[in-house]
Amino acid sequence: MKGIKQIAIGIAFLLVFLTACKEQKSTQTEKNIEQKVEQLLQQMTLEEKLGQMNQISPFGDDEAIKEGVKNGTIGSILNIIEPNQVNELQRIALEESRLGIPILIARDVIHGFKTIFPIPLGQAATFNPITVEYGARIAAIEASSVGIQWTFAPMIDISRDPRWGRIAESLGEDPYLASTLGSAMVRGFQGDSLHLPTAIAACPKHFVGYGASEGGKDYNSTFIPERQLRNVYLPPFEAAAQAGAATFMTSFNDNDGIPATANSFVLKDILRDEWNFDGIVVTDWASAAEMITHGFVADDKEATEKSVNAGVDMEMVSGMFIRRIPELIKEGKVKEQTINQAVRNILRIKFRLGLFDNPYVDEQAPSPFYNAHHLEAAKQMAVESMILLKNEKETLPLSTDIKTLAVVGPMADAPHDQLGTWIFDGDKQYTQTPLAALKKEFGDQFNILYEPGLEFSRDRNTKHFPQAVNIAQKADAVVLFLGEEAILTGEAHSLADINLVGAQSELVKVLAQTGKPLITVIMAGRPLAIEQEVKLSDAVLYSFHPGTMGGPALVDLLFGKEVPSGKTPVTFPKTSGQIPIYYAHNNTGRPATGNELLLDQIPLEAGQTSLGNTSFHLDAGFHPLFPFGYGLSYTTFEYSNIQLSANQLKEHEVLTISFDLENTGKLRGTEIAQLYVRDVVGSITRPIKELKRYKRVTLDPKEKQKVTFELPIKELAFWNIDLKRVVEPGEFHLWVAPHSAATGEPLVFEVI
Ligand code: GLC
Repeated sequence: MKGIKQIAIGIAFLLVFLTACKEQKSTQTEKNIEQKVEQLLQQMTLEEKLGQMNQISPFGDDEAIKEGVKNGTIGSILNIIEPNQVNELQRIALEESRLGIPILIARDVIHGFKTIFPIPLGQAATFNPITVEYGARIAAIEASSVGIQWTFAPMIDISRDPRWGRIAESLGEDPYLASTLGSAMVRGFQGDSLHLPTAIAACPKHFVGYGASEGGKDYNSTFIPERQLRNVYLPPFEAAAQAGAATFMTSFNDNDGIPATANSFVLKDILRDEWNFDGIVVTDWASAAEMITHGFVADDKEATEKSVNAGVDMEMVSGMFIRRIPELIKEGKVKEQTINQAVRNILRIKFRLGLFDNPYVDEQAPSPFYNAHHLEAAKQMAVESMILLKNEKETLPLSTDIKTLAVVGPMADAPHDQLGTWIFDGDKQYTQTPLAALKKEFGDQFNILYEPGLEFSRDRNTKHFPQAVNIAQKADAVVLFLGEEAILTGEAHSLADINLVGAQSELVKVLAQTGKPLITVIMAGRPLAIEQEVKLSDAVLYSFHPGTMGGPALVDLLFGKEVPSGKTPVTFPKTSGQIPIYYAHNNTGRPATGNELLLDQIPLEAGQTSLGNTSFHLDAGFHPLFPFGYGLSYTTFEYSNIQLSANQLKEHEVLTISFDLENTGKLRGTEIAQLYVRDVVGSITRPIKELKRYKRVTLDPKEKQKVTFELPIKELAFWNIDLKRVVEPGEFHLWVAPHSAATGEPLVFEVI
């Protein structure tokens, strides 16, 4: 026994020593980098410095690009993905330019490079940081294999408006979920060290508040006061900075009249001074030049002056920095020390990425694209991303003993659209669609009848409906694949109405009339207003564009080889008119009771105040179609015996919440247990509840597990009436629940 103890102590000391060495090495490395940055900076001409601040996208004249790299007037290039082209440009930079500074190759690798994972909104539905980090790691492995060193991801704009096309790229409506998953993506992209050959610099974007674009119209103005900015929109970015993100990107929106690309409060006071960020701040595509269109500046000279002085280091594609900074320095409007600081930030990241040692990509290395391991990881994430919204009469899982299955709908065999938005490099010929996967898995086991019914999601031509009804009548069950073409989602693709487009709703109606078990699968880039379609379906599975392996994932879920575990990362409205609608709302002075009379229930000549004066819509009520954090399983779970480690705690203490979770059904399944907390009385009004923890728990039938959450009381801090981040003493309510709308009596504790 004594010997074991001594070995354990020895190991402990060794670990401490190794950690200390690693930290010391890291500090040493950082010191070396800072010295190299300074040495290089001192040799640079002003034009070479401005070259580092200049990012271009190929414009067709390769010779001009080579010339720019040779002259040191280009510091970064986005959208080059040919290894030989990357290597030639890096060779010119290292061997022919005066100072041999490598260029930074960037690309939008948003949810996979070649192997495409579910869109980020689907990744958010997994509530699984491990899966999400691993997906980003695979994306980095594939992207770095062609010479990409920088991705413009993760997109972590809090998004509470499904009309906004870019909700597809986001991690949803909740700051805690977006913080945990966004930092997981940063870790995945950057790996254990930026120096690793498969590391690519992450770029949390769009900094900040872009998801609140008025009316859900892209690029639109936002009006977010500082307190709301700090309590809702900034936390995911702070988490990403703490995770070591190497770069940040400014957003297109003007917030309260100030375009983000010239907002020194967020770019300097918060990002640099409060968060100690020392990486690169890059503009969005021409977002500095667009400040002219905003009417915030008169010309590109003033745009340059305001963005550089606000803290922008690198300008994307307009070339204005190179053109305008020399005269601004002469006129004293921009100081050279400001330029020096921007160039330091850029060189620092290039050193951290190891580009001065080796910026080249191995053109002979075997391609990692679409390898079996990557495809399996993409399938697993797709499985975890899908949300079971309804399952009446245990329609799902389907039995493999069926004789005939009818497959209908424009998304059943849509290899391009299934990949979703922001796919620059994924090839649709690798997409495995639901129809193809069904045929491959069960083609020799039962009849598979297929009729799209509609050629594409916007199709209004119902001429094929009779054929769809015909195959449904011959089948034991109907699986109907509906949703959105990819082009209806993503940047600049906002919708005023989030009902199903085309004649898809009519297709649901005619199939429901056959009386056959109807399973509706929705593939989309946003929550859609599908109240009627849900009512008409026996089961509904929601799949935010699932990527390359969406088909096999859906087949495994439909036939029970996998059990759905996804939960809604955004609230699903009943109608567009309910937007914005999200769970972490304030209570108001007149909260809805949920029992209000709705339109058709209101008596004629009802008295003015007879309906009760509460906050709801007469025609839609108060509740959403599905709340945040909602998702069913093929089994059931029971929460019991919820205990708090204390009922009174101080700010420095940790509250332990424990509860029993039992699988009370017949199949093994995974539940995402959620912890919500409410600060009952604050110096400002506080949300009725906020997600503070979540955990995926997999249980066999009848298995019961004790689950615990550790909640440091300091995590209840918020930016209060005095704009101070504090934990205010008082009563707190707490729920452990399967989703955000789970009511039930809260547990109560007090912060003293
Ligand atoms: C786009 C997007 C941004 C992207 C950039 C480069 O306009 O707003 O998310 O990273 O340009 O493609």
